[in-house]
Amino acid sequence: MVVGAGLMGAGIAQVSAKAGYQVTLVDRTDADLQRGKAQIEKSAATLVKKGSYLPDDPELLLSRIHFTTQLKEGKDADLVIEAVPERLSIKQEVFRELDEIVKADAILASNTSSLSIAAISSVTRRPDQVIGMHFFSPVPNMKLLELVRSIITSEQTVQIAQAVGEKMGKETIVAPDYPGFIVNRVLVPMMNEAAFLVMEGNDPEEVDRGLMLGANHPIGPLRLADYCGLDTTLYTLESLYEGFNDPKYRPCPLFKRMVEAGMLGKKSGRGFYQYE
Ligand SMILES: NC(=O)c1ccc[n+]([C@@H]2O[C@H](COP(=O)([O-])OP(=O)(O)OC[C@H]3O[C@@H](n4cnc5c(N)ncnc54)[C@H](O)[C@@H]3O)[C@@H](O)[C@H]2O)c1
Repeated sequence: MVVGAGLMGAGIAQVSAKAGYQVTLVDRTDADLQRGKAQIEKSAATLVKKGSYLPDDPELLLSRIHFTTQLKEGKDADLVIEAVPERLSIKQEVFRELDEIVKADAILASNTSSLSIAAISSVTRRPDQVIGMHFFSPVPNMKLLELVRSIITSEQTVQIAQAVGEKMGKETIVAPDYPGFIVNRVLVPMMNEAAFLVMEGNDPEEVDRGLMLGANHPIGPLRLADYCGLDTTLYTLESLYEGFNDPKYRPCPLFKRMVEAGMLGKKSGRGFYQYE
């Protein structure tokens, strides 16, 4: 079962169905489910064009996904991956409910980018069976799956999540349950430092070209921040800053001002760059 049919949840349902799993995809309203379904259809059609999917794949994998607004329709799931908004209270509410509904031996995973897996698991009676399964966007294209093990997650839970990830065609790394895990702990401070360079008067294109040509990055940190959403990136930075109480993660004031001004990157049409 996948809970939340947004950008990430729809992608996770897609790669799960592609791997051969039967999936129950849950969201709050039919309109949310329709939007998720349309995202899967569009992505699958693009992957057929690229030759990554067979022509019959889109229909086949959609036949493996059951769309519903009722969490209890996924009660037989062996694994649940939650992808609802990045707020601890929302996630805890979902986990509390899931713990009542699904089998005692089912594993509960969260796709959180920055929240504590221990805090999410604390509302369940099975904290050792709770793990972070942090996918990257766009889920069908990105190779990495970061598994987040809390201090109470069991070894068996890690092994099962790893095996499922590999069946989905992902490469896994196991990260500790501290803010930013592994990837965002390195990536997001780099974006923040790049924003400081812009605040000091550097041109965003110069900063990005510098990292692309000098460090062999396929995309510059500022354009990547624009793609991830400057609000989401700022939220992760704030988690690092507050989670470690360390001034080295202080969010760049320019970053904050841009988010306050509604410059959220590609999704709002303007961030460090302008978009159509
Ligand atoms: N966007 C990214 O690049 C990215 C990358 C990695 C991880 N994440 C994480 O994935 C999670 C989801 O992010 P997203 O970008 O897909 O968000 P999104 O806003 O696109 O999707 C969230 C979905 O959850 C649904 N929802 C809200 N409350 C619900 C509930 N109680 N039950 C069922 N569905 C509910 C919403 O209707 C929405 O469709 C967040 O924790 C985020 O931090 C996001």
